Amino acid sequence: MENSQENIVLRVEGLSKAYKKGVFASKDVSFSVKKGEIFALIGPNGAGKTTTIRMIATLLKPTEGDALVDGNSIISAPEKVRRCLTYLPDEAGAYKNMKGRQYLRFMADMYADNKQQSAEFVKRAEEICGLGERLDDKVESYSRGMIRKLLLARTIMSRPELAILDEPTSGLDIINALDIRRMIRSLAEQGMSFLLSSHNMLEIEYVSDRVGIIAKGNLLEVGTPAELLEKYGAENLEEVFERVVSSR
Ligand SMILES: Nc1ncnc2c1ncn2[C@@H]1O[C@H](COP(=O)(O)OP(=O)(O)OP(=O)(O)O)[C@@H](O)[C@H]1O
Ligand SMILES: [Mg+2]
Repeated sequence: MENSQENIVLRVEGLSKAYKKGVFASKDVSFSVKKGEIFALIGPNGAGKTTTIRMIATLLKPTEGDALVDGNSIISAPEKVRRCLTYLPDEAGAYKNMKGRQYLRFMADMYADNKQQSAEFVKRAEEICGLGERLDDKVESYSRGMIRKLLLARTIMSRPELAILDEPTSGLDIINALDIRRMIRSLAEQGMSFLLSSHNMLEIEYVSDRVGIIAKGNLLEVGTPAELLEKYGAENLEEVFERVVSSR
């Protein structure tokens, strides 16, 4: 099963990005994500997480390399890639003038093939976001965490093959962060794959099946949290990170 090709949803092959000639924000990054797997890129501010993610989401052109989503290349078939994935940006907002429910309907209509499917998407998103009757209030009245939950529900309502979430729990309190972690886990159990990014290494340890440690654009280690803790004789992923970086 480990190596079975059809189980690979995302294969990243030597992705590099230089915003300025010769200065790489992301350098020769390679990893893969299996069906139903939660993979997290972890690293400090400026490590290259968002850069890598935006290339995979076809929003940023790589300087070198490629990535295949469900076998489709981000370089030669970006429109097919976009049909397989959804992306939650780290600093996303929602239309402030819409009510939460209106926003979900609006987004569902954009992604769904027909009215019935759109209604299914909205129903799923309403359940996932957990906002209850606050969905009838305007988004402008929501707290940061509520907006994050609304956007997360929007990102996964269409059950994409791959959901890419940049800092999914940033700005959320512990209760809401836990809710979102549980939500991600249960969707992965149903077969959805996730690529997450976070600089919160402790939190990500609990939600990820595998993590990739990225620093200064280089992917330095990939493994399950348990493998990495053992390899570096560490108590948690923060310690792993410290040891990986200082061993270079
Ligand atoms: N549009 C841009 N133009 C030039 N340089 C950029 C641009 N976007 C990012 N960079 C640089 O690329 C490097 C990686 O940034 P990136 O946003 O990918 O990091 P990150 O790991 O997502 O960090 P954070 O945890 O702060 O979100 C940084 O040095 C950053 O300054
Ligand atoms: Mg970022």
